[in-house]
Amino acid sequence: MKFGIPREIIDGENRVGLIPKTVKELVDQEHKVMVEAGAGTNAGFSDEEYREAGATIADSPEQVFAESDLVIKINTLSQNSATGKHEIDMLGEGTAVIGMLAPMNNHDVVQKLVEENVTAFSLEFLPRITRAQSMDVLSSMSTIAGYKAGLIAAQSLPKFFPLLMTAAGTIPPANALVIGAGVAGLQAIATCKRLGAKVAAFDTRPAVKEQVESLGARFVEMELPEDAETEGGYAKEMTEEFYQKELEAIGKRAQKSDVIITTALIFGKKAPILVTEDMLKTMSAGSVVVDLAGINGGNCEVGEYGKTVVEHGVTIHTPMNLPAELPYHASQMYSKNINTYLGGLFKEDSTDFNFEDEIVDDTCIVKDGEIRNEIVKNAVNEKGETA
Ligand code: NAI
Repeated sequence: MKFGIPREIIDGENRVGLIPKTVKELVDQEHKVMVEAGAGTNAGFSDEEYREAGATIADSPEQVFAESDLVIKINTLSQNSATGKHEIDMLGEGTAVIGMLAPMNNHDVVQKLVEENVTAFSLEFLPRITRAQSMDVLSSMSTIAGYKAGLIAAQSLPKFFPLLMTAAGTIPPANALVIGAGVAGLQAIATCKRLGAKVAAFDTRPAVKEQVESLGARFVEMELPEDAETEGGYAKEMTEEFYQKELEAIGKRAQKSDVIITTALIFGKKAPILVTEDMLKTMSAGSVVVDLAGINGGNCEVGEYGKTVVEHGVTIHTPMNLPAELPYHASQMYSKNINTYLGGLFKEDSTDFNFEDEIVDDTCIVKDGEIRNEIVKNAVNEKGETA
């Protein structure tokens, strides 16, 4: 197979789809890899390193898109201002594409993939099964986002995080509240704890309590439904009545919190509002909210995706692409995930995709001019335009 690694083109993106170490592993398995010149530079991987790993360096994105069997992207496909062409239009006949294509937020891209008869794999649809854990790019990127969220909070809070006993007096530790303790939330908890804050956390999935406590944080107690999790391992949408009770519980905690980090997501749906403007009014001036759910509308009622705003004396960060701000390890983790995924993508001794494997089947969103994934199909057909 010939794998293609174009330079990522969206603003602020620094990651690259494969790092030289993975390229070498693929080349050792008799595959070919073509990398666009400069694709890894911002992540810390030079063209020279790719060459040494056995890749060919292409001067233009057109060459990578046209001459590969499978193009490995990070972000969804978009218009390339350097070539004046959409990335989908640069794909060669029969070239497939894989990445975090975010089809639920990019219906126009899905429609274009259908029109151009492209086979497309979107890694957001990896099933949450044990075998797929080592391929789970969302977990890798959430790990980075959670870590960065803790750092952003510490950086912008006008207080210390740790307890300090100094000649100038004793400084109490900062109080942090983490709402949503999945992969990102647990990493945010761990980061805030390492920096010395007192951390409380909350999630709707009862299984999370033990994980939160094992990190030394306090789990905010609330009556939780036993069936809070889907079969696929995601949180279910809750009843209005539950959300009201949750808002009361969070409201009580918010007043005492210097920092709130929110990560609560419901797969394929708008994120629930869990920090209201009224809560912000009760927080001390200088407090910080980091809202990691911005891409799905945000968990904080106030805030603007990709921006930092100050309201009622509280700084609200709604960052857009935190993994791009730690590009070396983000690329390393992504590359490792992709390599594991590629290991099962093809039928044995064949270049045909192995659709009998549920991992391949679930992640393939478009093939033969049709949307194959029901969730994506319903979303695109219902709304037509991008959500
Ligand atoms: P996510 O990014 O979809 O959601 C973040 C967190 O928000 C979740 O823990 C969810 O329960 C929580 N949440 C949703 N609504 C909430 C509300 N109203 N209030 C408070 N919290 C709320 O979840 P993530 O991080 O992707 O993973 C969730 C679980 O799935 C984790 O336990 C993770 O280990 C597991 N997982 C398993 C994989 C596998 O087996 N291959 C792969 C990825 C994750």
